[in-house]
Amino acid sequence: MAIPIKNIIMLAGDGIGPEVMQSVITLIDHINKLGDVQINVVHHLIGGASYDVRGTPLTDEVITACKNSDAILLGAVGGTKWAQVDYDKRPEAGLLTLRKELNLFANLRPAMVFDSLISASSLKPEYIKGLDIMIVRELTGGVYFGEPRGIFNEPNGERRGINTQVYTTSEIIRVGRVAFETARLRRKKLCSVEKSNVMESGILWREEITKLAGEYPDVELSHMYADNCAMQLLRTPSQFDVIVTDNLFGDILSDEASMLTGSLGMLPSASLSHKGMPSLYEPIHGSAPDIAGQNIANPMAALLSFAMACDMALELPAWRVRIFDAVDAVLKKNIRTKDIALPDSRVLGTIEITNEILNEMDKQK
Ligand code: IPM
Ligand code: MG
Repeated sequence: MAIPIKNIIMLAGDGIGPEVMQSVITLIDHINKLGDVQINVVHHLIGGASYDVRGTPLTDEVITACKNSDAILLGAVGGTKWAQVDYDKRPEAGLLTLRKELNLFANLRPAMVFDSLISASSLKPEYIKGLDIMIVRELTGGVYFGEPRGIFNEPNGERRGINTQVYTTSEIIRVGRVAFETARLRRKKLCSVEKSNVMESGILWREEITKLAGEYPDVELSHMYADNCAMQLLRTPSQFDVIVTDNLFGDILSDEASMLTGSLGMLPSASLSHKGMPSLYEPIHGSAPDIAGQNIANPMAALLSFAMACDMALELPAWRVRIFDAVDAVLKKNIRTKDIALPDSRVLGTIEITNEILNEMDKQK
């Protein structure tokens, strides 16, 4: 019988992106060798790496390749090197265009704690033990994309900067469905977050999510203002299961939630479109230009992002479990990269810790 073939586009990007993606390549080679599946990887440029060569952070050729793939793996974009580049040519603009072009409207950002990393959190262990929150962030609307936008000259000599927060019912409903369905597979609690006390888009958000709840009677829905949610995440993070929120609040709250776990370098994410369309997987840690090229970056978030892809895009759910278990096993042995090291840890580089993770996989039954 022919083995299944999966086609992945890898966008390594900037900073530590290429190093952590190299770890994923090592893992994919390892999986391919076992012979049950053939995962083909094609590399393309994004971000500053693309700007330097092509004069733009994302070319049409790359967008087309991504649209024709089974999944996209992204390293990271951005860096101080491109700080002076025009806004629409910055590395980040490449990522935003890709999200929009591929219609990646639902961004799943899990914040979960590995037991062996509890001491790395800034919160007391009793608050974060077993923490497992999923933030579902709307990713292609809101103030990130709303029109009008720009910096305009006023007749009186002032300049005016404008961005527009805008949501339509269909944009709210489609991300709301992803959130309810995600909650259904977990602890069946959904908290919808907006600022309906000051924003009309927030009133609409609350109304539409409330209506949708009628279709998901098994999920317990609550509502929270975004500022209160930021506070509650620090006060009693364990009250949350799934959080659904807009693009900007989701950006902020997911950074906060990730740091509760004490390990920004550990957390993966998935960006989804409609079912059957390509989805994108990336670590949430960013390009970290200050540590790039030194073989000290933590590849775990990138490997766990690939694990999410195995489950959600590549029809390899067993690999999701195997990768998570192998990462967990390495952490339990107190083998660490520098960012999560304890005084008595065995500290390894990016390449070496990847090999340790693969060794743990070989030991699994
Ligand atoms: C993120 C990042 C991006 C965002 C940047 C790089 C454009 O912060 O994915 O959270 O703001 O969405
Ligand atoms: Mg962010």
